[in-house]
Amino acid sequence: MNTPSVNAIDTSADRLLLQPPYRKDPARPLTILCMNPDDHVCLCFHVSQRKIVNYCKRERPSHVSLISECLSAGTGCGWCVPFIIKLHDQVMSGAENPDLPVSPEEYARKRARYRKTGEREQVPAADPAKPEA
Ligand code: FES
Repeated sequence: MNTPSVNAIDTSADRLLLQPPYRKDPARPLTILCMNPDDHVCLCFHVSQRKIVNYCKRERPSHVSLISECLSAGTGCGWCVPFIIKLHDQVMSGAENPDLPVSPEEYARKRARYRKTGEREQVPAADPAKPEA
């Protein structure tokens, strides 16, 4: 029996078809994807969104830097810092299901570019002033 290679699986299309936890809000347009709670927000230290959110809910850190002290998230390349701030803000303001409305693939692609060029490409999830794509 032939097993399809990993490269043959279109993960972006799969995510469009999946229901929660990939698409937390059914009212949200299909074109806006969320990170899965188990996707890594800090790619340098492999810290998942779930870990950051749970830490914030449990400890209610008064400052974002406390998250980095505990989980090391954000202490590598620095790419994830605005996203950690966003998650922290959501938890502290009482959001029931904090999330980052960006696909893990786009997130990783922009982080790779950031590491290569040092320039931060805009990600709507990290900039509340920009409308979400
Ligand atoms: S992605 Fe978090 S420090 Fe690099």
